[in-house]
Amino acid sequence: MSRVAVLKGGRSLERQVSLRSGARVEDALRRLGHEVVPIDVGGDLVERLRAEAPDVAFVALHGRDGEDGTVQELLELLDVPYTASGVSACIRCMDKVLAKHAMGDAGVPTPDFYAFNETAFKELGAAGALPEIEARLEFPIVVKPAGQGSALGIKFARTPADVPAALVSAFSYDTKVMLERYVPGRDLAVSVVDLDEGPTPLPVVEAVPREEDFYDFEARYEIGRSDFVCPALLPGDAAERAQELALEVYRLLGCYGFGRVDLMLEDGGELQVLETNSIPGLTETSLLPQAAEAAGIEFDELIDRILETALARAAA
Ligand SMILES: Nc1ncnc2c1ncn2[C@@H]1O[C@H](COP(=O)(O)OP(=O)(O)O)[C@@H](O)[C@H]1O
Ligand SMILES: [Mg+2]
Repeated sequence: MSRVAVLKGGRSLERQVSLRSGARVEDALRRLGHEVVPIDVGGDLVERLRAEAPDVAFVALHGRDGEDGTVQELLELLDVPYTASGVSACIRCMDKVLAKHAMGDAGVPTPDFYAFNETAFKELGAAGALPEIEARLEFPIVVKPAGQGSALGIKFARTPADVPAALVSAFSYDTKVMLERYVPGRDLAVSVVDLDEGPTPLPVVEAVPREEDFYDFEARYEIGRSDFVCPALLPGDAAERAQELALEVYRLLGCYGFGRVDLMLEDGGELQVLETNSIPGLTETSLLPQAAEAAGIEFDELIDRILETALARAAA
């Protein structure tokens, strides 16, 4: 039995999801017989961790601070063992541009893209290069902030006239944005969990848009507008390939404990990796718990296993 601090909430835009992930993790930890110390992450985090002196921290934060390595850095400093990926992997995952360069260098398929800091537009006239980018990527073009998650700030530009507003929207979430080739196809996610036998990809989840939303890109990514199918029914060996690719990316980015890789199965059969979440959602409707269940791993067992990996890393 351990004294487990559950870090949740925080200041990120995904605060509400994190509160739900955290609450569910707390319930599971109590059922497993642990002592739970819930901590809503804020300005007193360091103070609270010192005062509570937990044996281990379960990081149930999503987005900024929790998923980007900041909280992990503090936990390292305070010598508190913690769940999921370490500082460097969090940084690589949170920055989609960094992750895409790492994947590109390693030969992992990811859609073509061009990324710019705000300063490139303000001081280097990058807007003047938009016609070249548009010619290379072809419309529609996906515009997204380098950071964030849950489809926040993602826009699908259908014509050159849509691009400026899409950029402004993306820049309201981050100082770095990218323009990415649109991949027509099916929306997949493969979660990976560190089991006794090592990092193991779980069954593939497909997000299937509702009929009426099929051609409305934005509506597809609104919460509750997609149905999730797990295991996904995919042609040929696509599911196996998606799992292999997810495992490769998980290792490439240096993830630990658990994580989720988002991909597209492009019409024509190619897989393209979009991004990796170092702390994916753990709510009732989240993809990783659904995939674990499809693999015969109940939620409590999943949480138990994740906690074990945190303690194992600290003991190593
Ligand atoms: N290049 C793309 N082509 C087609 N759809 C995309 C593309 N990029 C993102 N999407 C859609 O938007 C969703 C969210 O994008 P993603 O890159 O995973 O960011 P996040 O989940 O962090 O918001 C994806 O699951 C996918 O459905
Ligand atoms: Mg995603």
